[in-house]
Amino acid sequence: MPDQGPQRTESIAASTAGDFAAEVAAGLTKPQKELPSKYLYDEVGSALFEVICALPEYGLARAGERLLRRHAGDIVAQLSQPVAVAELGSGTGKSTRWLLEALARRQPVTYYPIDISRAALARCERELSQIDSVSLVGFERAYLDGLLEVAARRREGEHLLVLFLGSTIGNFDRPAGEEFLRAVRRILQPGDALLLATDLEKPMPQLILAYDDPLGVTAAFNLNLLARVNRELEADFNLARFRHQARWDARARRLEMHLVSLAEQSVTLRKLGLTVGFREGETIWTESCHKYNLEEVFQMAARAGYHCRAQWVDSEWPFAQSLYVAV
Ligand code: AVI
Repeated sequence: MPDQGPQRTESIAASTAGDFAAEVAAGLTKPQKELPSKYLYDEVGSALFEVICALPEYGLARAGERLLRRHAGDIVAQLSQPVAVAELGSGTGKSTRWLLEALARRQPVTYYPIDISRAALARCERELSQIDSVSLVGFERAYLDGLLEVAARRREGEHLLVLFLGSTIGNFDRPAGEEFLRAVRRILQPGDALLLATDLEKPMPQLILAYDDPLGVTAAFNLNLLARVNRELEADFNLARFRHQARWDARARRLEMHLVSLAEQSVTLRKLGLTVGFREGETIWTESCHKYNLEEVFQMAARAGYHCRAQWVDSEWPFAQSLYVAV
């Protein structure tokens, strides 16, 4: 399904310091300047993201958690047993707890969080290692590499439940998101399941507020990317000369985060030997957050090699958990 408008390329794999330098250089020399959103999550960015999840204007995280709190039992009832759980991105563990507790009421379960961040895995371990009948084995890996290792440990007759919560799929452009689902499917066996969270379309003013909150936390989260480039690549971005912007692209049905240059200026990245010029009003595109409708999430399953067995939608903040079963 071709997407509308300009595309950003987000890679799924883990990154090294060399990748960061190369991707920053490539992104800042494109006609529409861009920086990959995965680099928003250094230590400061991850802490700011946790605050974003607590903001009244940003309902995504609470909706996802509410759905699992209310429906964990129904979700578990749909799964073939025995099942091991692999989570792509370890999150805060809040939502996952409901599922693990429901599964463990039926039989002991092994939980494999997969995350490229050691700190995130350690936090997940603190949160979730105390649940009765749940054993936790973390993988400090890129999603697909980690999932391959989990699949290799599968016991005879055991099914896998893969969790992709938090609506992270929305940060890929639509074709890349589908390709990612296909790549996960290639690792699974028929009957394995994927629980996929997607944020659904909602009125534009509500979305703009969610991504441009009055406290300025999302602005700080976005601007921190320039601070990170300053810290790690010896650059001289003056943060006061850039402004956070959240814009809605109605054709592509995505919220975009940009950093707008407030003046004509140039910035030097000493480690890269690169100087970049900005016109007043020119932007760096830092993130896309695609919004879905229920029907397209249902249909996407079939195109990616699954059957969508059930969907649960939050009543307060349009958001869905969809249970895909590998066919
Ligand atoms: C991680 N991801 C699902 C968030 C989102 O809403 O797309 C990232 C985010 N960016 C700004 N606020 C939150």
